[in-house]
Amino acid sequence: MNVQAKEFRPDRHPAETYEEILERDTRPIPEHLREGPVPDLGTDAVPVDRYIDPAFARLEEKYLWPRIWQMACREEEIPNPGDTIVYEIAGKSLLIVRQKDGAIRAFYNSCLHRGRKLATLGGCKNEFRCPYHGIAWNTDGSFKDNPISWDFPQWEGTDLSLPEALVGTWAGFVFVNMDRNAVPLDEVLGPIKEHFARYENEDRYIHFHVQKIVPCNWKTAAEAFMESHHAITTHPQLLPYLADVNSQYDILSDYITRQFSAQMVPSPFNQRDYSEDEIVEALLGVGSRSAAGAGAKPGEMKVPDGETARTFMAEVTRKTLSAEDGHDYSAASDAEMVDALLYNIFPHMSFWAGFMPNLTYRWRPNGHDHTTSIMDIYMLKRVPKGKPRPKPAPVFEIGVDESIVELAPNSGMSAGLAAVFEQDMSNLPHVQSGMEASATGVLHLGRYAEMRIRKMHQMLDRVMTEGMEQATGTAR
Ligand code: FES
Ligand SMILES: [Fe+2]
Repeated sequence: MNVQAKEFRPDRHPAETYEEILERDTRPIPEHLREGPVPDLGTDAVPVDRYIDPAFARLEEKYLWPRIWQMACREEEIPNPGDTIVYEIAGKSLLIVRQKDGAIRAFYNSCLHRGRKLATLGGCKNEFRCPYHGIAWNTDGSFKDNPISWDFPQWEGTDLSLPEALVGTWAGFVFVNMDRNAVPLDEVLGPIKEHFARYENEDRYIHFHVQKIVPCNWKTAAEAFMESHHAITTHPQLLPYLADVNSQYDILSDYITRQFSAQMVPSPFNQRDYSEDEIVEALLGVGSRSAAGAGAKPGEMKVPDGETARTFMAEVTRKTLSAEDGHDYSAASDAEMVDALLYNIFPHMSFWAGFMPNLTYRWRPNGHDHTTSIMDIYMLKRVPKGKPRPKPAPVFEIGVDESIVELAPNSGMSAGLAAVFEQDMSNLPHVQSGMEASATGVLHLGRYAEMRIRKMHQMLDRVMTEGMEQATGTAR
């Protein structure tokens, strides 16, 4: 199942590679950051029907979403027995519930009587009593009470427990899967468990959680965060410090892909050279978490002679973070302090690696609407050493017509980061409508830098075909 070898080397941009940039760093390169497998995925065009045809969304609802592992919430959001999160995906709804013994279980949020949702809001529950006719279940899913039992002879002697989905956890995240015969979560996570071990996501807390309704298909939204080709046009303010075209893309397994982009190194696309001070200045202009933590403003940080902006900012970040959370970052590599290290788990989740406060993304269809989607943006910070775990930030909702750049700073997101997301968002409705306007009916993906998108589509085909074969009994 896993890609075995580097048997294929697609053309790369002639600029130095991400791994070559890391050779100049002040610490040894962690092995897991070195180049990984790059299989030949071909160059086939992608039909736009996958994004614009409601029939494809119906197929995803039947054969994709009920069959894959998906991150439903963070463990810290349901710390006590009875704590419940309602997780919804393309018309399905699950109650994610902390049990008395500390375990987490996921029950279908649908009354066994006439189907009403048992809960539409999360919170701490002592039972799930259906608001329609009052039939109730315990928080462990066992049947509790039926006020109209005299009229249900068909239920006598039957198990009326709530049906359950599979639950797994990794690094403080709770995953669910509605397919009782699913590939084990461990197998899906594969290498990501080892690669992320040192970033201790289980000991992080939700610093902010922004949930934005995006006017495009969920895949269109996800794909806007899976390559660096768009930085040159969509995010020009990043180019003085973002080595976009030097980025490294790896297909670690059928389920895990990743992209590494060096920061504090200018893009080869820049029209002129930037001094080390100007590179730092550009970062501060956009809003660096580490520099902001140090109280620095543009023009106030000078790179000492003989140092680069990259090694300087890596050290500033080590010190700033350490002062903030009490952890020791002296052994952390420069890359792990400043770079964009994004791992994706098939099909719709992205987890940033590294020691900085890390972003996590999840994209879902917005109910049954294939033309809008829900993007969750979490920022996870480490629990300060020796201090109690801070409470996770509540979900901060931003509507389809509302602006991230105007509203997200109220959630704790920096204004600079919100501006970057706004730039991404500005394309998306026009990608959706542009695909409908397409004369050719297909999209073309770059062979190297957009291969993570291609891999996702190939896996979509595989998983959905397997689902259809199972449903029709044609599986071999
Ligand atoms: S639908 Fe739930 S008790 Fe009737
Ligand atoms: Fe972007």
